[in-house]
Amino acid sequence: MGKVYVFDHPLIQHKTAMIRKIDTSVKDFREMVREISMLMGYEATRNLPLEEVEIETPMCKTTMKMLQGEDIAIVPILRAGLGMVDGMLALVPNAKVGHVGLYRDPETHIPVEYYCKLPTDIAKRQVFVVDPMLATGGSAIAAIDFIKDKGAKNIIFMCLIASPEGIEALQKAHPDVDIFIAAKDEKLNENAYILPGLGDAGDRLYGTK
Ligand code: PRP
Ligand code: URA
Repeated sequence: MGKVYVFDHPLIQHKTAMIRKIDTSVKDFREMVREISMLMGYEATRNLPLEEVEIETPMCKTTMKMLQGEDIAIVPILRAGLGMVDGMLALVPNAKVGHVGLYRDPETHIPVEYYCKLPTDIAKRQVFVVDPMLATGGSAIAAIDFIKDKGAKNIIFMCLIASPEGIEALQKAHPDVDIFIAAKDEKLNENAYILPGLGDAGDRLYGTK
């Protein structure tokens, strides 16, 4: 079973509380989603493989540990997942970025795919699938299905707010995927929105409604 990591860092908790507030502006929401993603990314990348590399300092030659080649892919689930990409790229600027386009049908809440473009060497990469919200889990499960179909093997899922129902469904569907979340909320409402949640993450990021 994949592990679930809930971040207890005060900066992450504070900023996650701020983005929930109904009067947080689009600009502040977007900036804080970026900041939280970077703070989470710092921990989520803890197990990236290192290799010994020969370098030369002004004093002498030596061997130091550095990240192995370009082995990371960040895959946002469109559209709200896009808000988490820049924070991750600030940490791993050479990562490749794939995109999976999905939206939840407003009536059935079932995810509908409209786009999928991934790095061709996705199978070799550590993949970070990012989306601010894990509600029913349908979108994350479908996105990870597509990504695995294209050959990806090592996948981590990162989101800001998750429901217990979404975590359970994702763990059941993809037991090999570890899940990193900023906050685990109480439950879903009758429209499959997370409570207390933050509302519609895509609308809050882009000022649509
Ligand atoms: C939101 C969110 C997730 C999904 C979560 O996207 O960003 O992708 O819902 O819900 P689920 O776990 O029940 O599938 P939405 O479908 O609203 O699309 P958007 O990003 O284009 O706003
Ligand atoms: N998608 C969102 O953006 N928010 C929710 O609470 C559930 C799904």
